[in-house]
Amino acid sequence: MTAIAVEPNPLREGLEQERVPDASCLVIFGASGDLTQRKLIPALYALAHDGLLPAGQTIIGFARPDYTDDAFRAAMREACEKHARTKPVDDAVWENFARGLFYQRGEFTDPEAYLRLRRRLEEFDKTRGTGGRRIYYLAVPPDFFAQISEFLGAEKMVGDPERDGPYTRVIIEKPFGHDLASARELNRVAVTTFRERQVFRIDHYLGKETVQNLLVLRFANGIFEPFWNRQYIDHVQLTVAESIGVEKRGSYFDSAGITRDIIQNHMLQLVSLVAMEPPVAFEANSVRDEKVKVLRALRELDDRVVRGQYVEGSVLGEPAAGYRSEEKVDPKSRTETYAAMRVFIDNWRWADVPFYIRAGKRLPKRVTDISIHFRPAPYPLFSRLGLKMSANVLAIRIQPDEGVSLKFDSKVPGPAVRTAPVSMEFRYATSFGAEPPEAYERLLLETMLGDATLFARRDEIETAWAWLDPLLKRWAANGDPNPYAAGTWGPEAADQLIERDGRKWRRP
Ligand code: BG6
Repeated sequence: MTAIAVEPNPLREGLEQERVPDASCLVIFGASGDLTQRKLIPALYALAHDGLLPAGQTIIGFARPDYTDDAFRAAMREACEKHARTKPVDDAVWENFARGLFYQRGEFTDPEAYLRLRRRLEEFDKTRGTGGRRIYYLAVPPDFFAQISEFLGAEKMVGDPERDGPYTRVIIEKPFGHDLASARELNRVAVTTFRERQVFRIDHYLGKETVQNLLVLRFANGIFEPFWNRQYIDHVQLTVAESIGVEKRGSYFDSAGITRDIIQNHMLQLVSLVAMEPPVAFEANSVRDEKVKVLRALRELDDRVVRGQYVEGSVLGEPAAGYRSEEKVDPKSRTETYAAMRVFIDNWRWADVPFYIRAGKRLPKRVTDISIHFRPAPYPLFSRLGLKMSANVLAIRIQPDEGVSLKFDSKVPGPAVRTAPVSMEFRYATSFGAEPPEAYERLLLETMLGDATLFARRDEIETAWAWLDPLLKRWAANGDPNPYAAGTWGPEAADQLIERDGRKWRRP
């Protein structure tokens, strides 16, 4: 299959020949929504731009509003002008890409709409060479999952994975459940129509280059493994900080809170990747088997948990309203916009090594950071001279300014013995000279290729919910979150949470 030719991207080197999938029909349910415009279409356009979309790839937006194909294309071009990674949009690439872009109006509950869609897809198989291959992207609220998958099944739009023939895959967006019971129900629905191997559950963090690099850092380098354990590591910190508030998503966020929105999925994925054992192969089930073992070893949370909610303050020099005055948020809301917890992984490698994790909205800046804090040198040779030694820290910057740094003490030049912390740095931007691709680009491509390594498996999701459910119930039953001013690093209680152990949050 030939790809649409365009300029090379160094981070994509080597992928062009090996990894161009066969053309398929990708149907986006919920195509008039925010996700389609901000992420999905710009990501697909970026794939086309980098020559990774096969010729004949066909994308069909399915939603309620009445668009023609051309009106949809124009709206999507506008979306790409705003949100695409490479701007301005390249006319030649766009033209080629837009030839494969279509729109189908329909209600999710109308069987006729599915029938019309099916006919159209069959037509594309003849005219565009999509060979009966189908990917359904459910960019819709979870309440619609059941309906859409039932209709797809009833209208015979789902191929049988047990038989040879063109594949059908379904991509499911988060939130994947609200608690263990609802996640189980969604999983039950998903596997009524589809088999587990057809289901691709998105956690967009797994599509981030820097998150994938965690595996390479740990398992492609010999030097880290010997000290990646309780013998050398004092503790680990993970921070997902955002300067934005809830923006236009008040009603969703108010019923979720940061623990469901970020910790249950993105942060637990990061914890699993940092803590997992080496998989036997770099392949979907081997990797996911090891990740789920970490989740199973999570110790039940004790009282070292803190929740917060932002009140009025100022972020990046601009005044910021309090959470309770945000659009579509209950003025008496008790939903947490910040959470911090001390987590233990009860297994051989990590016994009694605390993982301090925190996530929050309206913090001073946007940063996702993982830091591995090593134990001090075994003998205080230099402290005896009255020098203050700092611990070695390996910091992995997931975003922005993606990179890795190692902090260590060095002698300050001069006749006196004085030390100061210094760091060795690797930065994506300087080493590779290119911005990493967007997470959705990678995830869409992996779905087309049929590789589920970067997607959450059913048991991962359920194990994560099973661990968080008791805490969420406890919080729902008692008390209010601690207030913190917008633009600060969360409530004081979060500082105490770590300081009680004689440690401090790192300021990423
Ligand atoms: C989403 C959350 O999953 O991740 C949002 O629902 C959050 O609340 C977003 O803002 C953060 O993603 P990123 O890629 O900007 O770190």
